[in-house]
Amino acid sequence: MSALPLPIARIGIIGGGQLGRMMAKAAKRLGCTCVILDPTPGSPAGQVAGHQIIGHYHDPATLRELAESCDVTTFDIEDIDTETLIQLEREGHQIHPSPQVLALIQDKLTQKQALADAGIPTAPFIPMPEPCPAAFADFGYPLVQKARRGGYDGRGVVILKSAADYPQHLPVPSLLERFIPASKELAVVVARGRDGDCRCYPVVEMCFRSGANILDLLLAPADIPAATEQAAEALAIRTLDILGGVGIFGVEMFLTEAGELLVNEVAPRTHNSGHHTIEANVTDQFEQHLRAVVGLPLGSTAQLSPAAMINLLGAPGHHGRPVIAGMAEALAIPGVCLHLYGKAATSPYRKMGHVTVLDPDIQTARQKAEQVRELIFISGEDHP
Ligand SMILES: Nc1ncnc2c1ncn2[C@@H]1O[C@H](COP(=O)(O)OP(=O)(O)OP(=O)(O)O)[C@@H](O)[C@H]1O
Ligand SMILES: [Mg+2]
Repeated sequence: MSALPLPIARIGIIGGGQLGRMMAKAAKRLGCTCVILDPTPGSPAGQVAGHQIIGHYHDPATLRELAESCDVTTFDIEDIDTETLIQLEREGHQIHPSPQVLALIQDKLTQKQALADAGIPTAPFIPMPEPCPAAFADFGYPLVQKARRGGYDGRGVVILKSAADYPQHLPVPSLLERFIPASKELAVVVARGRDGDCRCYPVVEMCFRSGANILDLLLAPADIPAATEQAAEALAIRTLDILGGVGIFGVEMFLTEAGELLVNEVAPRTHNSGHHTIEANVTDQFEQHLRAVVGLPLGSTAQLSPAAMINLLGAPGHHGRPVIAGMAEALAIPGVCLHLYGKAATSPYRKMGHVTVLDPDIQTARQKAEQVRELIFISGEDHP
């Protein structure tokens, strides 16, 4: 048996947010070291990794510095200068998922076109390079407008119910999508190894808060028939086979009222709907991602306990150094696992942490998660 050198790998992570932070923790467990690239000193991931290059994701020089100082480079965000990454890959640097897949996905229009061209069911859409009222009316309401680039956590997406909502449109190059009255929103987190081996985590159900478009509560596993579960997993794997790439991908889907599955979008990175895997599954999504990008065998995705997960968001109207109320009360509830991301400042709806609740009964897990949501309040010191 060949012995692996220690540390196994130096892993570069572009983006120092919560996903990078949880990845850095998993890296330490595997004996790997991490270097984070992020413009903010002491980023959530930088605090854990211990090594951070201060720089921007669009600065070719810092991207190069990162790739050259690591064995493999990955990312926890999508808004990166892919031209530089493609050049670095050409020069022989290991970058996963591939910069080409990232480039395709980071533009919502090219992503949707690639999926639709390959026969993946999605909501009908048209490109909207220059928004104007007549074009919106021609497409027909209700509709969903999505900015081609730069959107995340619901920013860059607006739902327009009728022509009266047109003033809320996004004045940027975008696409228009048919509004899908979904019975459920599902997500499948899939890992793809360097050898093409694909493993799905059990399908999860995402509940969104109306207005903010932000994930409100996640239930794992989803309450869906076994046939739907199998169909969702098969669709996720088919989607990844089309896109290609190595690592964890989050495939978001709508389950329509007619029982049809439509792919909403794909994230080429660890995903908010996989946070519960840290406590609830044999191999969590962050370790799985590292196994994939480093070239180790993928681990079991089996779920050990039902789980409910909520994001802990900054309270509306609050800014500045976070003040977290209700933590002791929340932690007194059995099965509550708290994660705070160490962000230096809160702002309205900013993701400051999350809570996973484990319970043998998923409805009990859900109730406890809702109770925690009422208990924890994140305000900011700058608030008057
Ligand atoms: N065609 C659609 N029909 C109905 N609702 C939609 C549609 N597209 C998006 N939505 C709603 O808006 C939410 C956000 O959309 P989407 O996932 O495309 O954007 P996003 O900002 O990239 O998301 P995130 O970063 O939170 O995953 C979806 O989860 C869904 O609730
Ligand atoms: Mg989404």
